[in-house]
Amino acid sequence: MKKIPIVMDCDPGTDDALAMLMVHAAKNIDLRAVTTVAGNLNREVTAQNALDITEYFGIPAPVAKGSYPIMKKFEALDISVMGEGGLGNAALPKAQGEFSPYNSVELLHREVQKAAGEIVILATGPLTNVALLLSVYLEDRELIREIVIMGGAVYYGNHTPRTEFNIYTDAEAAKIVFQSGIPIKMIGTDVTYRTPVTRKDLDCLLSDGKRVSKFIGDLMFYPGDGERPFPEEGIYIWDGLAAAALICPECMEWKHVYVDVETKGELTYGETVADMDHYLKQPPNVHIAFGCDKEKFIGIIQKTISAID
Ligand code: BDR
Ligand code: CA
Repeated sequence: MKKIPIVMDCDPGTDDALAMLMVHAAKNIDLRAVTTVAGNLNREVTAQNALDITEYFGIPAPVAKGSYPIMKKFEALDISVMGEGGLGNAALPKAQGEFSPYNSVELLHREVQKAAGEIVILATGPLTNVALLLSVYLEDRELIREIVIMGGAVYYGNHTPRTEFNIYTDAEAAKIVFQSGIPIKMIGTDVTYRTPVTRKDLDCLLSDGKRVSKFIGDLMFYPGDGERPFPEEGIYIWDGLAAAALICPECMEWKHVYVDVETKGELTYGETVADMDHYLKQPPNVHIAFGCDKEKFIGIIQKTISAID
């Protein structure tokens, strides 16, 4: 099977960590590099988490440190959501290995050039690094096969009434990426909110005593402020769903529409404005996921666990 070469640009982050394991384990994906960005936490912590995860699970991909938002003041996620270290209840040994000598933008550029025309970027954090790549290395725009993004919200935000966290964190960057002309798949709140994962879905996967299962359990069962029980209606595995969309695009329902990003609105900064009814008469630039076969999604997590020791 020909594997899809990818770079994962991320801000681990509990769900980024799971997504990383998913693409590492997937038979049809070749994870070539991990580039990190400030998002859920500051750039030092997301980078260290990524290095710790790759080393602990033997993921043979270099890890680079990334950027802060281009124009907006950086605001990390509230620590009650993913814990102080960003990985919920998981505590990994500090990696002994080194970061890539390149920063995230340089490492992305090198991988784009190496796999000219083939590379797919899986972006599960704010789009800062990707926007900088497309701005500094204009020639790379022609060489990226696709960008698969966890981010955006057509109908309901998860961070403000109209916005999703990754896009809100750096809307100027998102605008550059969405307007780049590169094929984009958007896995936003429209599909994550339709795909809640319940305790039952996870319990049956994670009771095998494997260390990878324990790690995923520690990521997913983090009770936030220490009081909150696992929600009965389930949790949303945002970045895991983006990884699944890359591994199995046919597991999702897609609509091809024109999307632009709001960067000026007082109440709507970071909104992904999707022209569902063609008012703007622009050609579609984004495939948006609106549905996912949950059994298949859970099946991909199951395969991830089986493939990793
Ligand atoms: C996204 O924001 C982050 O908190 C998660 O890691 C995910 O990428 C969900 O809105
Ligand atoms: Ca993320």
